[in-house]
Amino acid sequence: MIDRFGRNIDYLRISVTDRCDFRCTYCMGEDIEFLSRDKVLSLEETYLLARTFVELGVKRIRVTGGEPLVRKGIIRLLEQIAKLPGLDELTITTNGSQLTRYARPLLDAGVARINISLDTLKRERFLQLTRRDQLDQVLAGIDAVAALPFQRLKLNAVVLRDRNFDEVGDLAQFAIDRGMDISYIEEMPLGVIQDHDRAKCYVSSDEIRAKLSEQFQLVPVASKTAGPSDYYQLTNSTSRIGFISPHSHNFCGDCNRVRLTCEGRLLLCLGNEHSMDLKTIIRTNPDHDALRKAIIGALDLKPEKHHFNLDQEPDIIRFMSATGG
Ligand code: GTP
Ligand code: 5AD
Ligand code: SF4
Repeated sequence: MIDRFGRNIDYLRISVTDRCDFRCTYCMGEDIEFLSRDKVLSLEETYLLARTFVELGVKRIRVTGGEPLVRKGIIRLLEQIAKLPGLDELTITTNGSQLTRYARPLLDAGVARINISLDTLKRERFLQLTRRDQLDQVLAGIDAVAALPFQRLKLNAVVLRDRNFDEVGDLAQFAIDRGMDISYIEEMPLGVIQDHDRAKCYVSSDEIRAKLSEQFQLVPVASKTAGPSDYYQLTNSTSRIGFISPHSHNFCGDCNRVRLTCEGRLLLCLGNEHSMDLKTIIRTNPDHDALRKAIIGALDLKPEKHHFNLDQEPDIIRFMSATGG
């Protein structure tokens, strides 16, 4: 699948639910209303769409949410997706809250890599950032997956000034001690939030890297995963440090991905509203060809890049949880 700008789209991110057991302040409000269940794709519908995308050339699928592991039946869906002929890699992004229970089932289902959100190692801060007092549960979940032979594990930290910027070194050390990678993320303006001023809390990846360089030796590496992280290798460690820099180092030129929301909307870009309603197509038209044509046609809607601007009210009203990260 090639878009109008010659980009090869072979990576699909699937959000299986907008629901989450946390309420991260950069992601959603405490009083968020989740979608009613009839609006959300069934697991069978999600599988049908995943299969069609793989038939059309998708090689990598990442399952996200909300929190994907709160969706009932998720392991069965993952098992089915992992077996699709032609798929090279199935991965998942989680907040870690359910990992003590799901570590082994995820490995057995065929999930190759897991990304786990972790913004702080301090209990009070964790409560402030996620509005839930569950740091210990997440740390136990990280230990549970670290004990198993996943291909690779990565932590994700959204970095905010006056919240967790002073902890970037401790988070890196935590990842290194467990042989994991870690990516630092510049906050993106999705949905209106009340907790903090996004422009004031913005920290650029260069600033984070400069701070880390006081403590660690970082060597740039060409190796990439499917996603937008720019990686650095740490000397004397297998861990890599990644930077996801939507503001300071736009990566749209290399974009290889589209997103399927849990409502069955194919979103062509995280930072734009261009989309195609695939749920209506599969619910009203049993013809598989119509679905394939709709997906191919939707590629023409993929915009060249996002236009995130932290200094104004967000253009994009949907939260990250409804989007699939
Ligand atoms: P891998 O490279 O496969 O490990 O995945 P990843 O790091 O891209 O996935 P993850 O789900 O951990 O996402 C990390 C962050 O990258 C999240 O904040 C995502 O929203 C962000 N991200 C992923 N893809 C895009 C994209 O196309 N555009 C933007 N702006 N952000 C993205
Ligand atoms: N900006 C950047 N990253 C975000 N995430 C959630 N909301 C935002 C945002 N507004 C991150 C989570 C998770 C990943 C899927 O997206 O921390 O690691
Ligand atoms: Fe839930 Fe992830 Fe959003 Fe946090 S960032 S509220 S864990 S979906």
